[in-house]
Amino acid sequence: MKSISEEYNLNNKKILLRLDLNVPLIDDKITDTTRIDKIIPTLKFLISQNAKIIIISHVGRPNGEVVNELSLRPICDDLKIKLSQNIKLISKNIKEISSKDLFNSDDEKIVMLENIRFYPEEEKNNPQFAKQLSTLADIYVNDAFSCSHRAHASIVEITNFLPCYSGLQLFLEVDALKKITSEIKKPITCIIGGSKVSTKINIIKNLIPKFNNIIIVGGMANNIIKYMGNNIGKSLQEENSDMIIKEIFSLSETEDCKIVYPVDVMIGRDLNGNSQIKELNEISSEEMILDIGPKTISIIKNIIEESNTILWNGPAGYFENPNFANGSIEIAKKIIENNKSDKIYSVVGGGDTVSFLNSLNLINNFNFVSTAGGAFLEYLEGKELPGIKALKKNDRT
Ligand code: 3PG
Repeated sequence: MKSISEEYNLNNKKILLRLDLNVPLIDDKITDTTRIDKIIPTLKFLISQNAKIIIISHVGRPNGEVVNELSLRPICDDLKIKLSQNIKLISKNIKEISSKDLFNSDDEKIVMLENIRFYPEEEKNNPQFAKQLSTLADIYVNDAFSCSHRAHASIVEITNFLPCYSGLQLFLEVDALKKITSEIKKPITCIIGGSKVSTKINIIKNLIPKFNNIIIVGGMANNIIKYMGNNIGKSLQEENSDMIIKEIFSLSETEDCKIVYPVDVMIGRDLNGNSQIKELNEISSEEMILDIGPKTISIIKNIIEESNTILWNGPAGYFENPNFANGSIEIAKKIIENNKSDKIYSVVGGGDTVSFLNSLNLINNFNFVSTAGGAFLEYLEGKELPGIKALKKNDRT
């Protein structure tokens, strides 16, 4: 896998640059810009080489349809300010664009194509769509490590049509994760939370042989609470997950990995409501689980105390409402406390986790911070991510 920093002649070359600008948006406002900030060095490098940059990214999950609320417009505006450069957002249908639609003068250096997931072909890894994208540029660069677990057209298929390179951020991220996973010190605890249940629940099975403890919180824990025979009301859940949960528990016994899930929870009537402590058998059909309860927090703190390495991916609750942020705050505080006294090595990952820690100004208290969520977990599984594999396979240099 070659880094774009090793390509010597980028002068006037058109670079198709896949980024992960999937930042949290509320009413067109970006609530955390970490993923944008991290990518600035790559953009500055390409600008300094006098390259022409065509940015591709997704935001959210529009499922192959144009969803106005998921336009890249606010992200494009933020980048313009950060780079002091004009960036043209091209909303024209990608399937009808030709390379002359992109740069109209020598002064235009950066353009951004509208949300790539507005096209169903993207998630289908469609070769025609990738080929069409490739006609816009001379070189392809993947600087979206956090999307590299997705076999999508702008991540995988595109590498069959252009000379391809890794971006500076992707290179750093893979390098750091390689080092962490080879030097890891046991006992290792992995805390998995967040709301992307379907993405993560299958991964847990493959993580069991590698960890001493797996603590499941957030949306995924709801499925386990239900599996144990409790009513989970209106809580976020994944259909048909009983089989995989059964496998998770049986494998954890043979592999001697402790699976920990909430023993009590904080519920609300809606996302903006107040919180109330409940035992698992007390949840009514009108309520939703939105955080872990105090007994669960205390169990998690004891496990952190006994661990040498902590990997944390996904918040424990709906932290956007401060009434449900306590579980994540207490986990963060305990990891930081043990990190400061050099008792543990700590790694955090995932867009939401990073955004949560940033909102409390705590992000600099961990040994390594990855902007990747699902990709980070799949990397821990020991899998070669499809996006990385494609870059290696098609490295024609
Ligand atoms: C992420 O936020 O992890 C990446 O942007 C990938 O998003 P996805 O889970 O919607 O594919």
